This record gives sequence, C-alpha cells and structure tokens, in this order.
Amino acid sequence: MCGIVGYIGPRDATPIILNGLKRLEYRGYDSAGIAVLENSHIEVRRDAGKLNRLVSMVEGAPLSGNLGIGHTRWATHGEPNAKNAHPHIGSTGEVVVVHNGIVENFLELRDELIAEGTTLHSETDSEIIVHLIEKFLSTESDLLSASRKAFSLLKGHHGIVVISSKEPDKIIASRIGNAGGVVFGYGENEMFVASDLPAILEHTRRVSFLETHQIAVVTRDGVEAQTFEGEPVELETENISWDPVAAEKGEYRHFMQKEIHEQVRSITDTISGRVDFEKGKIILPQLNLTKEFANQIDRIILIACGTAYYAAMVGKVLIENIARIPVEVDVASEFRYRDPIINDRTVVIAISQSGETADTLAAMAEGKKRGATLWSIVNAIGSQAMRIADGYISMQTGPEIGVASTKAYSAPLVDQYMLAILLADLREVITEQERRALVEDLRHLPELVGQVLSRENQYMQVAHALKDSLNCIYLGRGINMPTAFEGALKLKEISYIHAEGYPGGEMKHGPIALFDKDLPVVVIATQDQWYDKMISQIEQTKARGAPVIAMATDGDKLIPPLADHVIWIPEVSWMLSPVLTVIPLQILAYHIAAIRGLDVDQPRNLAKSVTVE
Ligand code: F6R
Repeated sequence: MCGIVGYIGPRDATPIILNGLKRLEYRGYDSAGIAVLENSHIEVRRDAGKLNRLVSMVEGAPLSGNLGIGHTRWATHGEPNAKNAHPHIGSTGEVVVVHNGIVENFLELRDELIAEGTTLHSETDSEIIVHLIEKFLSTESDLLSASRKAFSLLKGHHGIVVISSKEPDKIIASRIGNAGGVVFGYGENEMFVASDLPAILEHTRRVSFLETHQIAVVTRDGVEAQTFEGEPVELETENISWDPVAAEKGEYRHFMQKEIHEQVRSITDTISGRVDFEKGKIILPQLNLTKEFANQIDRIILIACGTAYYAAMVGKVLIENIARIPVEVDVASEFRYRDPIINDRTVVIAISQSGETADTLAAMAEGKKRGATLWSIVNAIGSQAMRIADGYISMQTGPEIGVASTKAYSAPLVDQYMLAILLADLREVITEQERRALVEDLRHLPELVGQVLSRENQYMQVAHALKDSLNCIYLGRGINMPTAFEGALKLKEISYIHAEGYPGGEMKHGPIALFDKDLPVVVIATQDQWYDKMISQIEQTKARGAPVIAMATDGDKLIPPLADHVIWIPEVSWMLSPVLTVIPLQILAYHIAAIRGLDVDQPRNLAKSVTVE
C-alpha cells in the first residue's frame, strides 16, 4: 500500500527519495509524487501511474534541494490521478504533507474547513491534513505544535510526514494506529524517514521506529520523539542485518519467480537454529514460552488475512493433530466484529508477512483487550505485529517483494509445525519417539522443496495448457484443502482468471453444476489419508467432461490414466505435504500470468501491505 520516503541532509534529496520510492514499488500504488525545498520554496511534482512517469516528469522539470518527501499512493478516496496524488500542498504553498491511512472523520472535517473558507483541490481525505496544519499554524508557535493539534483531530490510523518552507531544518513525522510504520534511518549528518525499511537500507542500517501516538521532529542530527501529550520518548536504535541485495531480482524475470525459487533457502533458514536434530527438540526462544504456560493454554485462535489465512488453516490441522489443543481460525477482518470468546488461557496468534496489515493488527488489539496472550508469526522485522506481540516467530524468509505471497506462505507452515511440536513436548502429549520422528521429517524438507522447484519446466507445460481458461476450480481435502484455496488465490490475483478453491467433499454440493469441458479442475491427490476420496473426486470430475489436472505423488499408478495432466511431487510426510504441494500451484499461476504478459509483481488493484481496513 502507500509508501513514504523523506530526506534531510547535505545531499540532493531528489534521487534519494525517488530511489527509496522505487524500493517500495512492490507495496502496490497507483500514483506517485515528490516535494523538495528549493531556495525557500517547496516544489511539487506528482502524477498518476507508475514511478517512471514521475521520474520522467522530474527529468523534464528538475528539482534540487536537501530536504524533501515523497509518496506512492494506493487510492482510497478519489481516483488515482495527478491532483489526488501526494504530496498535498496547503493554500499558502508553505506546507506539504504525505499520508498513509484513511481519515475516518474526513467528511466532517472537510465540511468544517470548507465552511471556514478553505478551498480543497483534490478528492482525497489526506489533503485536509495540510489545511488543518496551516489553520493551526496561525495560533500555534511552530510546525510541531500545529501538526500535533491537527493530527489529534484525525480519527483512524495514520502515518504522516510533513515539511514546511518556513522551518527548513526539520521533517515532522507521526504514527497513529496501524496504517503502516514510520522508520527513521540515521546517517552522517543526514536522516532518512520512511514507511518501510527497504526504502532506506541502501543508505544506513541504523534505524529506529516510531510507536503509535508518537510524533517526532527529524533534523540532520537525529530524531526527537514525544507522545501526543508532549512527553519525550527515547527511541531505541537497532542495526538491521539484512542484505539489500536479497531484494534484487537477480537472474529472474520477476520477483515472484525469484521468491518461489528462494523457498529452499527460506525453509532452510526457517529450520536453522530452531531444530536440535540430535535431541529431537524445537527451540523458539522469541515466544517466551514456558512449560507452565504451555499447560495453561486451553485454546488457540489463529488470525490472518488472505494467503496468511490459508497458512493458518494448515496450522489448525497441525496444532490440533500434534499438540491436541483446540484451534480456531479466523479472518482478521471478521474476528473483532464477532464478539469472540477469549480468556487468559487463550492464545491469539497472528500470521502476517508484512506485520502491518491493519485488519490483523486490529484483531490482535481485540485479542489483547480481552485478555489473550498474543503471539505473531511475522516476516517484516521490526513491524508492528512483531513488536506488540508477547512472543513471536520471525519467518526468516527475507523481504518479499512480489505482491503475491509465496515464500511467506510456506515458511509459516513450517513455523506452525515446529510450534505444534514444541507445545506437544511441553504438554507431554507425544512420546519421545513420536517427537523425534516429527522433527526428523524436517531434516529432508529443504531438499524436497528443491526437488519440486527443479520440475518447473514440467509445471510450465500445464501452464501453457491452462493459459486461455476463463475459470478454474481447485479441489483439496484435509491438510491440503487450504492448498486448494491458496492455489486458486494465486491464479486469480496475478492472472485475472476466475478461480475458486473448494474442499473436495463439497464439490457435489453445488460446484459440480459448473463442470464441463471448459472448466479445468486442479485436484490435489497426493498419498495421504484423503487419497482414496480424492481419486473419487477425479472420477466424478472426469465423468462431467472437465479437464483434470491432478497433483500426484511420484510413483502413483492410478492417477495418470485418469488425468489430462499430472503434476508430480516427491513423497513427503502428510503433515509437511502442504509445503510442497503449494509450490507447483505457485509456479503454475506465475507462468500463466507471465505467458499472458501481465504485471506479475504488481497485479492491478492489489497492494503488498494492506494498511487500511
Ligand atoms: C496474496 C497476498 C495477500 C496477503 C494478505 C495478508 O498473495 O499476499 O492475500 O496474504 O493481504 O498480508 P500479510 O501477510 O502482510 O498480513
């Protein structure tokens, strides 16, 4: 979703801001803009569409100055066009603002401003922020106090960055709630501000994060933060160790393809340091989990959105089977509106790649409010979902740039498997032999993931066969039912082919009416306890003349004569099978979209980090 970059220091701000925005492109956006202080006057360039349009605009009408802010906008209020793009300029031209989030009381504030004689130039909710700041500048002593006064009127969740030509030595930044983060990067006599780490990591590894309801003044020398009540806040700086090169495309055509292929490494890193193969034990220190607490847990609620929600559905099967703790899975956007039953023996676990998804954070807050212990399984280091949890498991996949999530789906499957083993161990519900066998299965997992990935060309042939389909159905059962949902989501979001996942057993309760020669059906029929049932789904599908694409375990003899295409995967334990079965479906979706010539990494209307409700 929207991205923010700001710079103050001795260097030319424009290339730093434009490069930073480039690194945030993966988040999804539909317009972009930049404001730079040039000789006591703020110059703004902004346009609809991709960043290269803004870059050309800046080449045509260059900007130069040492203070500036930039933004990539994902439209909420008003079309993605130049006038709705950020930065927004106040009536005097002295103040500019970039904003992430939604002003929930926008209409009320807008009407008040209009009644007071303010002319608005865009349809956005964000523009009113700059006018409010200007209004308070007439009564307050400086930009900080005027901004604070303006921000305290805003309902909703926000990340806001402001500069003024009248106070050229500072940037004001604030975070209210969960509309994405605000991170500061510390340089030599220069400072960077951004909504996300990748925007600034090429310049500095020393960073600090703003918490909610804090406001900060950023100068060349550092940051001074305070609460909205004016209490000074000490920001802790940390050093980020990731390699920004990990975020480059390398030999691959798209980030999504690269990230699919990174799964050998990400699964290896997920396991590394967390598994003691000798003792057959799992170690997850950041969870702060004691034996006593493990034995108190009476229920786990997994909350997440989209792909992460499907990962949670797999987690339910794993935790219930291995640790014998009842697990509920909830879509985060529904959870807090359903008056959930929670007590102090409930653990709410949020799964999130970005750690900044507004619905997931709101669901976490609801869980906390009702007395649950909060854990999170998160990829983005330093994100809110990691920081507000009582304990966390970090996904260890490195930055995921492609909007469609791939490696951040398979990693939490393994995280939940390990969590289930740890809980089972602490609650003494499995024997040592069972525990050792479960742990041992992890040893070969990266190698099996590698084997699946080496079959990309095989899966590509199926992609060619499906590329012109208008619709597609995915069927799975048991632990691979969520794989069917995830396979369908991947296809629809990047190829725009309508696809639905169904529990295999539900097929005859309605969807079968759709089956005919034009509706390809992808059936996950690997060797597990649901295999016979899936064979019967294949038979029923065939009988209606629908083309069958069956996923089968190497060596299967029954499936080839029944299916039009077979997607082969190596043998694997049933509990870890979703880590493998999803990969051919990711590859299938990727190649179908690539063959159709679509923007695989930035599909239309989608954002990488959904920081609005
Ligand atoms: C689909 C996809 C989304 C995200 C969802 C949650 O490929 O990426 O469905 O899974 O928006 O995002 P996170 O995991 O960042 O909370």
